Amino acid sequence: MAELRGKRALVTGASSGIGAAIARIFADEGAHLVLTARRKDQLDAVAAECRGKGVTVDVIVADLGKAGEAARLWAAATAGAAVDILVNNAGFGYFRPFGEVEAAREAELVQLNMTALVELSRAFVVTRKAAAGASYLLNIASIGAYQSVPNMALYAASKAFVRNFTEALHDELSATHASATVVCPGGTKTEFHAQAGAGNYSWIANASMMSAEECARKSVRAMLKKKRSYIPGLINKLSCFGVRLVPRWFASWMARRVLGKPRPGELPQRSAA
Ligand SMILES: NC(=O)c1ccc[n+]([C@@H]2O[C@H](COP(=O)([O-])OP(=O)(O)OC[C@H]3O[C@@H](n4cnc5c(N)ncnc54)[C@H](OP(=O)(O)O)[C@@H]3O)[C@@H](O)[C@H]2O)c1
Repeated sequence: MAELRGKRALVTGASSGIGAAIARIFADEGAHLVLTARRKDQLDAVAAECRGKGVTVDVIVADLGKAGEAARLWAAATAGAAVDILVNNAGFGYFRPFGEVEAAREAELVQLNMTALVELSRAFVVTRKAAAGASYLLNIASIGAYQSVPNMALYAASKAFVRNFTEALHDELSATHASATVVCPGGTKTEFHAQAGAGNYSWIANASMMSAEECARKSVRAMLKKKRSYIPGLINKLSCFGVRLVPRWFASWMARRVLGKPRPGELPQRSAA
């Protein structure tokens, strides 16, 4: 991972889970950081840990579920120095039948998982594709990108968008020093599941759960190898390959079986601390 030394990376969703783990790996390898999310206390804690490893860390609190925030974030992140690596990791899902959560939460999902990711990717591509040194765009999708997922209809569709969008960018950038990689994690042990009102999973879903650290390490390696697309974990790879061999209705039915029932009760709400 020597290529990371001295680079400057913007990581969205760096306050917890996979994003925080990616930030720690970058810091271990000598990359300077711009960390963003809504919860300032958690961001500050991750930033302090990373500064302890000898890199500079800027913290920018932003709610990327709101229109205009991605542009403000990019302007602030690039005001003093260039960004060589962009990790679009921030994202959320909810495990409920479509139409059973407030319309505002659906709009926030579309804004965060797709619109903000597109806006940041655009800002990155237009500034980096003519740059001399290597630059990397890493977009985090999900194995949900490979099929329809009942009770996560909008989330899985948003991740299918991220996957197709990023794979096309990878090809468009092939003649430049910039690269684009999409990583499609399966179940990863983070706050995601509690936030989504999910977690009554079958044994196979629990057996294939990966730590955020392992997912982050594999994702960063795939990014540095300039892979087009990467699925961490053997069971996840087999499952994404398997859906090509079965009818789409069957894959959807299996997803419902594997993911179990939504956890009852109100969905948790996060906001800036
Ligand atoms: N965990 C899994 O099983 C799994 C599987 C496949 C894909 N993924 C994907 O992996 C990515 C990271 O998720 P995770 O598992 O690490 O879950 P997580 O711990 O809940 O992390 C999500 C991150 O996104 C940030 N975020 C959420 N809403 C935001 C908003 N409106 N504006 C700015 N930042 C926001 C959160 O920070 P704040 O709340 O502080 O803003 C947090 O840092 C997501 O894109 C998720 O879809 C996860």
